[in-house]
Amino acid sequence: MHRLDEWWRGAAIYQVYVRSFADANGDGVGDLAGVRSRLRYLAELGVDALWFSPWYASPMADGGYDVADYRAIHPHFGDLAQAEQLIAEALDLGIRTIVDIVPNHASDQHPWFRRALEAGPGSPERERFWFRPGRGPDGHLPPNNWQSQFGGAAWTRVPDGEWYLHRFAAAQPDLNWQHPEVRREHEEVLRFWFDRGAAGVRVDSAAEVVKDPALPDLPSGRAPDPHPYFDRDEIHDVYRDWRKVAESYTPPRALIGEVWLPDPERFARYLRPDELHTAFNFGFLTCPWDAGRLRETISSTLAAHQPVGAPATWVLANHDVTRTVTRYGRAETGFDFAAKAHGIPTDLALGRRRARAAALLSLALPGSVYLYQGEELGLPEVEDLPVDVIDDPMFHRTAGADPGRDGCRVPLPWGGGTAPFGFTSTAAGAPDTAVDAWLPQPSQWSELTVERQSADPASLLNLYRAALRLRHAEPGLGDGTMTWLPSAPQVLCFSRSATFACVANLGGVPVDLPVHREVLLSSAVLMDHQLPPDTAAWLRLP
Ligand code: GLC
Repeated sequence: MHRLDEWWRGAAIYQVYVRSFADANGDGVGDLAGVRSRLRYLAELGVDALWFSPWYASPMADGGYDVADYRAIHPHFGDLAQAEQLIAEALDLGIRTIVDIVPNHASDQHPWFRRALEAGPGSPERERFWFRPGRGPDGHLPPNNWQSQFGGAAWTRVPDGEWYLHRFAAAQPDLNWQHPEVRREHEEVLRFWFDRGAAGVRVDSAAEVVKDPALPDLPSGRAPDPHPYFDRDEIHDVYRDWRKVAESYTPPRALIGEVWLPDPERFARYLRPDELHTAFNFGFLTCPWDAGRLRETISSTLAAHQPVGAPATWVLANHDVTRTVTRYGRAETGFDFAAKAHGIPTDLALGRRRARAAALLSLALPGSVYLYQGEELGLPEVEDLPVDVIDDPMFHRTAGADPGRDGCRVPLPWGGGTAPFGFTSTAAGAPDTAVDAWLPQPSQWSELTVERQSADPASLLNLYRAALRLRHAEPGLGDGTMTWLPSAPQVLCFSRSATFACVANLGGVPVDLPVHREVLLSSAVLMDHQLPPDTAAWLRLP
């Protein structure tokens, strides 16, 4: 039996990308007042918590993952008083708040980095980051061969000749976690947000924070073990300290890691009882729409979590990956984050059908579940954004070879027949069509607005609402265990209690439903007690 305050074990958590959620002040950029104006929508959807992508003061070189002040709200989004109000108002509706903490790097506009630049080579100010002289006769070559995750070298040279490390964009200098002040500062930032009512934090790039101070070249071929900047053992001490901070609160606060690690055992080490509480399950997100591979992914996920006692998480989408209906609408439905490509033939109707089934599948699995804003509307990836509006450094650092992630960050369509579809309104709440949303929305999104889908009983939005309602009411759902039931190879079938089962048909032909008393919910219309292709159903067992 788990403690009542362990809400995160079975929660449905909704990711808000503030910039693209709702704009209340009419400037084309989402803001906190916009979120506050839509809290009722989120309560009616039935989510338990909101995770806000970074809302801090930032030059927005990477959509806010370049933080200039971890304690201030970006002026485009609002101010600290509004954030506190939002946290309180959400809680009044039974919704907790999770903030995004970015420990691996700061913005190049963070006061620490500015001081480090001014102070010059050899100064203590530079030790909070990774400054090094270059290689070659006049130091014109980077200190090692590490590459930025966004393309190009992971080093940038400053005018005095030294180089600094940035595993992401040049505007995101990596912090030195060997430095006691870096560790102390982040613990204080955690307390700052916990004191303001945050129920937990999402830890950005959680497996990459600690570096080998020798900064060795990466050998070509196989990844070295230990790796100089990935999943290093010392990282676990950081999260043990954070856990103590989280546990010093009543109720304890939750730590949720963004841990991209293919090895389930290495992954589970982050979830030991004195470290992070949960971490995103990217194995599930990256798994193709294939029954055998999904069964294997689900089983190995649960097997890896079991020894550490942590609940699994189920994630289909976030602000970094191609939207679900587009991914599932492709013949090769695997993941295309690293080699994201546009222009691949996509059958959106098929993708939508599968996304509906995937929603019922993921909401029935044991543990917590994440929804990324717009997933409940079945928004597709926008793959034809004009080049001049693209903001993502991934696009720019690869000279467009990688289309970047803006296609999944296009502002939400709320209502009406033309862009900005109620995303942008004046302070008085009147639609203001004079202002464009910061990224243009496709005209076809008139079909996908919250308003349209609310009025359509068969919409994906109403499927999510019904499923989340049932998930709360059904004692077997959320945290707990599952049992695979016998099924054909192209079918996934499992029970969550003596009386509840989920069945999903990923094959090309209809299959008979297992013996049941009642169909509680299905992702498509069922005929003759059969489950059509790419359909899932929740069943009451006899
Ligand atoms: C994480 C974020 C991503 C960001 C990166 C650098 O992967 O999810 O959006 O670009 O970290 O902070």
